[in-house]
Amino acid sequence: MQLKNRTVVIIGGSSGIGFATAELAQAEGATVVITGRDPDKLDRAAQQLGAVRTAIVDITNETDVQQLMLQLDHIDHLIVLGASLASGKVVDTPLQELTRPIHERILGAVYAVRHAAPRMSDGSITLTSGLFSTRPIPGMTMAATAVGGIEAMSRALALELAPIRVNAIAPGYIDTPLLQAAFTDQYESVVKAQAATLPVKCIGTAQEAARAILFLMTTRFITGEVLHLDGGGRYV
Ligand SMILES: NC(=O)c1ccc[n+]([C@@H]2O[C@H](COP(=O)([O-])OP(=O)(O)OC[C@H]3O[C@@H](n4cnc5c(N)ncnc54)[C@H](OP(=O)(O)O)[C@@H]3O)[C@@H](O)[C@H]2O)c1
Repeated sequence: MQLKNRTVVIIGGSSGIGFATAELAQAEGATVVITGRDPDKLDRAAQQLGAVRTAIVDITNETDVQQLMLQLDHIDHLIVLGASLASGKVVDTPLQELTRPIHERILGAVYAVRHAAPRMSDGSITLTSGLFSTRPIPGMTMAATAVGGIEAMSRALALELAPIRVNAIAPGYIDTPLLQAAFTDQYESVVKAQAATLPVKCIGTAQEAARAILFLMTTRFITGEVLHLDGGGRYV
């Protein structure tokens, strides 16, 4: 019970990596708060988890984020996962769409940190980077820019917010609804092809990502770190 009586807030906790983290944190004794934008999805997640607090939060809306944090007396661990896979080619894509990764990932993390950190005395914040920070692909330049920024933000905040620890996870291909939605009916073949290119010969699971987040939450001597969960994907 590594998180007994700790309050863990997971922005983007209604599916995928966030949901798996909520399950694991509960099993470790935490009081868990999960958020999402879609109320039905959030309700289904809450029913599966049982004793969990929920809040509708769009991370691009600072007021949503502020309202959530105002309801909480104290926060021990904050995990910021909520974001879409938006991007598009820099030259062809309307600016509003192009800047979405910046709004969701950079400003979203800033909103979360600004309103959560004053309610934290120590504990940890885990932000979300991704494989694009080290292995960019055409059409995902703004997502790569945003996740690269998140890695820099984690290091800088580790100093600025100390003794609160700040780290990031950088997932590669992880089997979640986000990935399934991205590839729809080609999902199985994409997963098979990706797995074959990786040193580990499989893609990751949400539970494996959750265990990495738990490690960052519970390891007192780790801060300003980026933990890669990509099956070696950035080297091939
Ligand atoms: N799966 C992968 O292969 C992979 C790889 C690299 C990075 N990541 C990153 O890891 C994070 C979690 O991904 P996942 O695969 O677990 O995705 P997921 O299953 O789609 O879960 C995303 C969660 O975030 C919420 N969310 C999405 N957009 C949001 C927004 N604008 N504001 C607030 N909440 C939002 C979703 O609920 P609602 O839709 O109801 O809001 C859901 O709870 C994302 O940042 C993703 O980019 C994933």
